[in-house]
Amino acid sequence: MVKIKSKDSLINKNIILGVTGGISAYKACEMVRLLIKEGAKVTVAMTKNAEKFVSKMTFQYLSGNKVLSNMYDENESEISHINIADSADLILICPATANFISKYSNGIADNLLLNILLATKSRVIICPAMNVNMYENPVIQKNINKLQEYGVEFVEPDSGELACGWEGKGRLAEPEKIFNFIKKKDQNKDLTEENILITCGATREYLDPIRFISNPSSGKMGLALAKVLEARGAKTKIICGHMEEKFASNFNTVKCESVEDMEREVFKDLNKFTVIIKAAAVGDYKFKKFKKNKVKKNDSGINFEMEKTNDILARLGQEKKPNQILIGFSAETENTINNAMKKIKNKNLDLIVANDISFPDSGFGKNNNFTYMVSKNKSVEDLGLISKPNLSIKIGDYIKRIRMELS
Ligand SMILES: Cc1cc2nc3c(=O)[nH]c(=O)nc-3n(C[C@H](O)[C@H](O)[C@H](O)COP(=O)(O)O)c2cc1C
Repeated sequence: MVKIKSKDSLINKNIILGVTGGISAYKACEMVRLLIKEGAKVTVAMTKNAEKFVSKMTFQYLSGNKVLSNMYDENESEISHINIADSADLILICPATANFISKYSNGIADNLLLNILLATKSRVIICPAMNVNMYENPVIQKNINKLQEYGVEFVEPDSGELACGWEGKGRLAEPEKIFNFIKKKDQNKDLTEENILITCGATREYLDPIRFISNPSSGKMGLALAKVLEARGAKTKIICGHMEEKFASNFNTVKCESVEDMEREVFKDLNKFTVIIKAAAVGDYKFKKFKKNKVKKNDSGINFEMEKTNDILARLGQEKKPNQILIGFSAETENTINNAMKKIKNKNLDLIVANDISFPDSGFGKNNNFTYMVSKNKSVEDLGLISKPNLSIKIGDYIKRIRMELS
């Protein structure tokens, strides 16, 4: 049973529930019921393949409205796809097949539902459901990421046993979870009290005026964090190393090069911040001596002495105030959880976002991470392959939870 907290937000809202041809289409029936109970006006639009899984008649009875599926029905001419798109307050695609997501992300409009989506300016939420290998296929992940970049929201599928016999991420999120996602987003300025410092991108340690050592961090994670946390009402400041992603000018951003620069910036006004998220990929070593002039090529080999850089995260852990929340990131190729557990203790962190960068299509420069969230009380949340915007939402939820525990 879903607990309905407020009856205001969905009353009389026009919701188009798009149903596509997957095995979990039957769960859309429960979705219709929940939305109607909340006071929404629901119109179901189905793909032709969806009709092979659940009949139009079922949705017609449940919603009390004619079900839309035919693009060229003469009797439907007064409710064209443009009218439907214009009048919608929300379009929810539940379930969304791999096929449908891919068509939408490529601007294909060969059925009524796709035409409605391409014509709408309203909020769109997509609930993917498919076999785990289909879901993790880089083609599908790329299409999901593309739509997320255009502002389409996704309710991630659940993990578990799938109808196809496989086990993994791909099962349609439960209707209650989708319903709560819709409602939560309506009341979503939940981090207005937080002033969040985010570090991101790659530091560079120079050998001479033109050569340096660094890493492939793109800053995508920091950008996603800033966007998501600001949208939830938080104030953010970003201290970034080298970035491939560009921040919009309205973000409060300070650029730096080396670990030393970053350390100086981070500790400047540290007490102002309620949360510190260290997503930057900071170099562990620097050249012992910086050569003022370009190092010349010679015929034999060459050796450079290196020394450790300062550990900014460890210093933050030592100096953090009791009400500050400190979140670190780690990139690992083995023993991801054990290493995170050690780090969280040694560096006095509240949370480690531990990424297994050996997983394909994840980590530096990619749109996804393969993540375990390890918290101070040793609980481990296995998030699997998750997009950086969705991971940012999880981190925002964590901050909210910890703040409630601290206060
Ligand atoms: C029994 C059965 C179950 C299916 N379940 C899914 C599913 O859960 N997710 C998915 O992406 N495709 C699934 N498919 C494949 C889709 O039906 C197929 O890709 C179809 O073209 C989707 O059409 P639509 O996106 O226009 O609705 C299933 C196919 C069959 C025969």
